[in-house]
Amino acid sequence: MAVKQELESVEAIQQGKKRDGFTSAIGVIAATLGSAVGLGNIWKFPSITGQNGGAAFIIIYLLSTLLVGLPVMISEQMLGRKARKDAISTLRDLSPKKQPWWLVGAAGVLAAFLIMAFYTEVAGWVFAYIFKSAAGGFLSTDPAVTSQAFMNLVVNPMQSLIWQWVVLVMIGAILMLGVSKGIESTTKKLMPVLFVILVAICVRSLTLEGAGEGLRFLLQPDFAKVTWTTVLVAMGLAFFKLSTGMGTMITYGSYFRDEQDIPATATKVMLADLLVSMLAGIAIFPAVFAFGFEPDAGPSLLFITIPAVFASMPFGNVFMVLFFILAGIAATGAMLSLLEVPVAFINEKLNISRPVATVATVVLLAVIGSTAALSNSTLAEVKLFGLTFFDLFDYTTSNILLPVGGLLIAIFVGWVWGKEKITDALTNAGVLKNEWVVNGFYVIVKFVTPLLLILVLLRGLAIL
Ligand code: TRP
Repeated sequence: MAVKQELESVEAIQQGKKRDGFTSAIGVIAATLGSAVGLGNIWKFPSITGQNGGAAFIIIYLLSTLLVGLPVMISEQMLGRKARKDAISTLRDLSPKKQPWWLVGAAGVLAAFLIMAFYTEVAGWVFAYIFKSAAGGFLSTDPAVTSQAFMNLVVNPMQSLIWQWVVLVMIGAILMLGVSKGIESTTKKLMPVLFVILVAICVRSLTLEGAGEGLRFLLQPDFAKVTWTTVLVAMGLAFFKLSTGMGTMITYGSYFRDEQDIPATATKVMLADLLVSMLAGIAIFPAVFAFGFEPDAGPSLLFITIPAVFASMPFGNVFMVLFFILAGIAATGAMLSLLEVPVAFINEKLNISRPVATVATVVLLAVIGSTAALSNSTLAEVKLFGLTFFDLFDYTTSNILLPVGGLLIAIFVGWVWGKEKITDALTNAGVLKNEWVVNGFYVIVKFVTPLLLILVLLRGLAIL
């Protein structure tokens, strides 16, 4: 019976009679967590933590996640499920007439392209590293040598572009299969693998002699390194990590089941995402300290320091391959959710079939993304505001587009949409008895989140 029903529903989706969506509670969690967990955990979190004083940064990041990231995540999922449309149409449908809130959705589609432009490039390096380390490359404990190997990759325009295209084709192929058969079933298979690999690498790292110092770095706060910019960076990372501020969670929320408990789902995803970030820190820093490397290498931590660290340990090559497979899996779930934002919009709003919408998005991205891919070679000297395209996309999305998008969504939910609609949406029309959750959420999203965001944006961008 269940099989027959499923077949019928697949048929209905294919004939365009029914909107595709996630089919189970586990599927919702897998896809949403797959979106949240990504290079943000494996690449950004460790390198930013390393540069900003370790534990002190983590505490500020935790607060940002709770008071800003989580409320915006709940808001987006709630709006998406209410309207059951792409991000732009959702905001247009739910806002009072003549108020242009749909622009927030449009900014989100733009942000998706800008993030994907540099994200696919870093993901391309990750996939290149899987193959190169499996073939026995990078086996040197000397960072000068691993640095040279990384440079050979990034300054080579053709290699940079090809790896980016490999990533784009792979993501496009999964997205073409649709929401339940593509996104949901892929993330459901990949997330358990990710946890197993991560734990295995943590055990390896923690059992190294001298691992304690790395743990101390992660857990002992040094507030001397904290400035307003640090707080802005922490907040930007909180948005980036939870895939919020640009319509990803609106789009995914539109695929949630009616009976999904949204505050509980968002909280679980946030906690699991934090766990993955901390485990990534535990996988990396004890090993970095054990072999006397520096924790504050920044973005190159992953591609220059890590290979040297792995080369220093027994069975290092096996763990290095595993590590980059881990990063590749994490990046895949995140990219699926980023690309789904424009694909859903083009598919539903412009009424173009899903496969064509996917190909169009991928081709457009290959063009925009090439500016990021060539930032270390052909276009290295082309700079705007002193930044290469790669850095410009990274900086403006995390530190401006996502926080401003999140601010507007919080204002929309708290001030325009209002308590009654929030209560209805978060209790599933009175089915869930979660009054205090709704009240707490309402106060935070209406006052705390916007005020914090305004303060940190003004301070962090040095306007105030
Ligand atoms: N959260 C992902 C990560 O940590 C990146 C990501 C996916 C994202 N979708 C997003 C970031 C939407 C911002 C907005 O790597």
